[in-house]
Amino acid sequence: MMKSTTNYLRFNIFHRFSHFLIIISFFGLVLTGIPLAFRGYDWARWLYELFGGYPTAGFIHRICALITFFAAFLHFIFLFYNIAVKKRKGYFWGPDSLLIQPRDLFDIFKDIKWFLGFSKRPNFDKWIYWEKFEYLSLMWGTLVMAVTGLILWFPVQFTKVIPPSVAAIVDLPSIALIIHRYEAILAAGFIFTIHFFHTHLLPEKMPVDESMFTGRITEPEFKHERLNQFNRLEKEQGLENMKVAPPSLFASFLTRLFAVPVLIIGLVVTGLMLSAILVWAI
Ligand code: HEM
Repeated sequence: MMKSTTNYLRFNIFHRFSHFLIIISFFGLVLTGIPLAFRGYDWARWLYELFGGYPTAGFIHRICALITFFAAFLHFIFLFYNIAVKKRKGYFWGPDSLLIQPRDLFDIFKDIKWFLGFSKRPNFDKWIYWEKFEYLSLMWGTLVMAVTGLILWFPVQFTKVIPPSVAAIVDLPSIALIIHRYEAILAAGFIFTIHFFHTHLLPEKMPVDESMFTGRITEPEFKHERLNQFNRLEKEQGLENMKVAPPSLFASFLTRLFAVPVLIIGLVVTGLMLSAILVWAI
């Protein structure tokens, strides 16, 4: 990465801290949950024992779930403060919004045309359509995992909430277990492949895209990835406020020291899950 060029702040300390909480808690949940879903395999039993086995691994799983809830709580406080208290615009509509806009649908078509070699690479704004899909799937996935996970955590209490006539025929904890298990495999598989590959494992980013850790992107990166936002901010004279010093060598080193093993662990877990699923399928 070019360090001598102008750098801009893309993610502030709050967003970086929230993302860090998500990484730590998600990895903890995967490493203590996935072994249960694949309990028939030696690697899964080894991984479960690595985290203390029963009941310690289950305890770690619950602590990580609480960290996820805390990160979600921070996110909604942030949204509430900005939208309802500060009356800031642009969260639901416009180029700064993380929600899908009509423009994103055109971007998908333009991207497909580019993939097929029919046009030049499209220019994007602050959030690219796949980043928006990831954000929405994180929201949705966390809700599903939280509800089903809480049912597994407190099965008796949740069963009491539904009418006894329904509870007699619907085994709520068993349904929650099936949803929790398969959504977990889907979520881990998605994050460790799609998210990892188009964020960190692109040839120009290998081995890690540092922006979510140092908060910074260089001007060439900014123009290459989000030219529309760059041009928009240049016109509105908003670029000056975003200029920051380049990340220190130490910050880049720490980022790699943390992120590279995390990426490798994710890819190895995906490989193990895939091999087990292939065995089931055959
Ligand atoms: C966010 C809130 C979550 C809560 C409250 C939660 C809670 C639980 C609970 C109580 C169990 C039962 C196993 C035990 O007692 O240790 C469990 C199992 C499991 N969890 Fe979670 N969990 C959450 C999120 C996740 C996430 C994000 C993943 C992975 C992406 C995950 C993966 C699993 C798996 C694979 C199992 C084993 C299911 C089976 O037995 O096949 N969990 N979870």
